[in-house]
Amino acid sequence: MHWTTPAPAPAGPLTASPSLATAYHQDLDDIAPTRYGRWGHDGAEALEGALGALDGGLSVVFNSGMAAISAVLMSLLKPGQVFVVGGDTYYETQQIADQLRERGVHIRVLTDVATQLADAVEGARLVLLESPTNPLMGIHDLRECARLVHDAGALLAVDNSVSSPLGQRPLDLGADLVITSDAKIVGGHNDIILGHVTIRDPELDSTLRNWRHLHGTIPSAFDSWLTQRSIGSLEMRVERQSANAAALTHLLADREEVTHLRWPGWQEDPGYAVASRQMLRGGGLLAFQLPGRAHLHRFLRASRLIIPATSYGGLQTMANDIATWPHIKVPPGYVRISCGCETTTDLTDDVLHALDAAL
Ligand SMILES: Cc1ncc(COP(=O)(O)O)c(C=O)c1O
Repeated sequence: MHWTTPAPAPAGPLTASPSLATAYHQDLDDIAPTRYGRWGHDGAEALEGALGALDGGLSVVFNSGMAAISAVLMSLLKPGQVFVVGGDTYYETQQIADQLRERGVHIRVLTDVATQLADAVEGARLVLLESPTNPLMGIHDLRECARLVHDAGALLAVDNSVSSPLGQRPLDLGADLVITSDAKIVGGHNDIILGHVTIRDPELDSTLRNWRHLHGTIPSAFDSWLTQRSIGSLEMRVERQSANAAALTHLLADREEVTHLRWPGWQEDPGYAVASRQMLRGGGLLAFQLPGRAHLHRFLRASRLIIPATSYGGLQTMANDIATWPHIKVPPGYVRISCGCETTTDLTDDVLHALDAAL
């Protein structure tokens, strides 16, 4: 892949290395402004090339997913304008919406995207949706949403963190902006905080770059390099995570104590018809209900491979006791599992053993 390996040169390095410089030599005979690390650097630009190719647009990288979301919302919305947001988007995204409300932006929160979007988008400037949603794995028809949003003259932003560009390409489905937390699947090793926005409109590109420049939210050279390096194994990781999620879903579907099972690649998932049209892979995340918190905790304690931890998309399988999260109303015992890259039979053997032990 050209973005993870430098151009070949005799005895030159095979792998890219981070350049940590934040100041650059200036050509005194050239009136062009010199470079500075907060405005841009080689690592960020190389990463943007790779992410832009994956998403199919122009990428702007930020030092977290939240910095990317804030840049979109804060730079595009002015007092008096209307912002429509899915009530099932990441809860910190909704906290930014609360801050925008205090600054005079009109916020419309959708409790049911499919039935409310057509009316809510009237007069709006921007709509932000997530699909699949974190943590409940809900699915929205992004092509249909883009049609409604554009008919109303608004812009559609999609938070694609749960899929990554290899699971879904929202710009191809009609979205104007795609936002991704790369701390999850793209980074994939639970050691990077970074995010990006991809757009096709050069004007949006320069708005976001200007925001990042002024607010100082560019990722470091080291994190940019680590992320770029991780992209080299992205497809293999996503393939294995999806295969592991498929295997666990089929195993869990046969268990009496498991209900409300959600995985977008499963034919019996309520979102499957839409997901199979718009997603490239089912992905590594699934969610389901066990009979209560004590049962869930027995299951997690009995497992040797599932690590109770926040975040998702990494090499290790991790689980989240979602009922303990603020702002999310699910019964105790509801769990989101992020499948890692373990050997599939190791994971299924472990989960079967832990389910039996928890009974
Ligand atoms: C769907 C979604 N969007 C955005 C974020 C925020 O990303 P970050 O933690 O990189 O700021 C998260 C983090 O969990 C997320 O799951």
